Amino acid sequence: MQDALLLKALRSQNDSRPPVWLMRQAGRYMPQYQAFRKNHSLFDLFHDVEKIVEITLLPVKALDVDAAILFSDILSVCDGLGIKWGFEDGRGPLLPEPVQPHTIFSKKKNAYTHIESAIRELKKELKIPLLGFAGAPFTIASYLIEGGSSKDLKKTKKWLYSDPQSFHALLNQISEETISYLKVQIEAGVDGVQLFDSWAHHLDHPSFCSFSLHYMEKILRAIPEVPVILFCRGSCFFAKELSSIKPSAISLDWSGEISIIRKELPQVALQGNLDPMILYASKKEIQKAVFRLLDSMKGDPGFIFNLGHGLLPDIPYENVQYLVDTVKNH
Ligand code: CP3
Repeated sequence: MQDALLLKALRSQNDSRPPVWLMRQAGRYMPQYQAFRKNHSLFDLFHDVEKIVEITLLPVKALDVDAAILFSDILSVCDGLGIKWGFEDGRGPLLPEPVQPHTIFSKKKNAYTHIESAIRELKKELKIPLLGFAGAPFTIASYLIEGGSSKDLKKTKKWLYSDPQSFHALLNQISEETISYLKVQIEAGVDGVQLFDSWAHHLDHPSFCSFSLHYMEKILRAIPEVPVILFCRGSCFFAKELSSIKPSAISLDWSGEISIIRKELPQVALQGNLDPMILYASKKEIQKAVFRLLDSMKGDPGFIFNLGHGLLPDIPYENVQYLVDTVKNH
């Protein structure tokens, strides 16, 4: 497994073609996934070992990508925090009892046994690396406070600026639980983990450093030694700060030119960064964009091809297949 393209690239030692996998590769753009969703709620799928295994394997079998990512959600950590969570059809995550300053969590023990079992099963079947993941504490805090997705994170930022001390206390509690959650995944056998700070782009520079980066670093230092990839929206802007905490890789959003960022950051693997919406274009345009990105990182031993954010549900499935084939055959 150490010779897998992804693991070599994560060590910045890849001398073959770049590995390719896609954020949200197991999801609604796949007809096979939609068939699962017809008969099951999302919450049920995330708690069913057999389904987690089957759905994780869907894009591996159908697209022949170079890494699998566990079918789960960043909100799974709510199980351990003892917080109710679920999804509203068409509207995304719903947490019916948002946290308030000084909420005390009634943490649950053994909250992730389904995830542990699914990882052990997957490791028996997979010939490519399996990535685990978690939400970064700031993004998880935003879901706990807002009760779901929010356009401007107003409640979260209001709390952060008006009572930073209790906000730090919340981030500390989430970080501790996230460390336990990632330890379960790592001990069960994942080959690397990605942290998602999907809402970090709402923070200014000093707030990013103290409310986002600091807690990602805390997690990085506390978990057993596996490759760690850091993603945030805003990662092109915060790339230097992200690299300062020494992850294996930074997953870049599409806003920056990856080859320019490479010149500033020679030491860290870089993952990214095609705009997922390019996949609405014609095959000719997709090919042009993919070639442009691949050519700009040609021969780079630490480059991992991915999108700048997740696949969207209505992206044509055949374009996703075309994308992966184009990367692999370039
Ligand atoms: O990448 C993968 O294929 C692995 C599985 C995965 C899911 N969620 C499954 C999922 C991963 C890595 C995530 C991470 C996640 N979840 C993030 C961070 C990444 C990002 O996109 O910024 C966030 C912010 C969430 C929270 C979340 N979960 C939202 C906002 C939504 C609704 C939005 C949407 O896409 O509909 C979900 C639901 C969710 N998580 C789906 C999947 C496949 C949608 C499935 C469905 O409705 O059937």
